[in-house]
Amino acid sequence: MPILKIARMGHPILNQRAEAVPDPTAPEVARLVAAMIETMEDADGTGLAAPQVHMPWRIVVYKVMAERAEAEEGAEGDSESEEVPTTALINPVIEPLGEETNVAFEACLSVPDMAGPVRRFSHIRLTYQTLAGETVSREAEGFHARVLQHECDHLDGVLYPMRVEDMRQFGFVDALGKGQGMPESADEGSEDSEGDVEELGDVAAG
Ligand code: NI
Repeated sequence: MPILKIARMGHPILNQRAEAVPDPTAPEVARLVAAMIETMEDADGTGLAAPQVHMPWRIVVYKVMAERAEAEEGAEGDSESEEVPTTALINPVIEPLGEETNVAFEACLSVPDMAGPVRRFSHIRLTYQTLAGETVSREAEGFHARVLQHECDHLDGVLYPMRVEDMRQFGFVDALGKGQGMPESADEGSEDSEGDVEELGDVAAG
């Protein structure tokens, strides 16, 4: 399988709403998913959506690595995540569960070398089809829920910089954190998880 070229912010494919996949079991869908997984691994990303490889279909591949899941479990607060093996989502739909949100830094393979803080729902329900055509529904929270919201945004033509509330904290990864204004890691004992922003070192690109 070839490694696919990743579209960067500014390319019109990233601003389009992707189309539903009519037959998740079609061989060309499996071939595209395999190439997307290889491309995601090569780029060291946590997720990749089909429009990022110039394909206007509602397809996402992603994974949550064990180190990441463990980091969340050890963190203060009630945000939890879990390891998720590499998974392909066909026609995924996200529904928020509750009003709770949290803010953390995100990065994107289509916006290289940059990062910014984005508010996401803390708990969601994900419904999607597998490559076998089965419909699966599951809940996700914490970092897992964040990755899913970032990737599914790509299917609607939305890039994370459009959701950054404080543009002063959006910038190049190697410049962020130099001098003032860099968010500290979550305050110990803080009751207000709304205000906490994870440290930039944890950022993962999708
Ligand atoms: Ni992205």
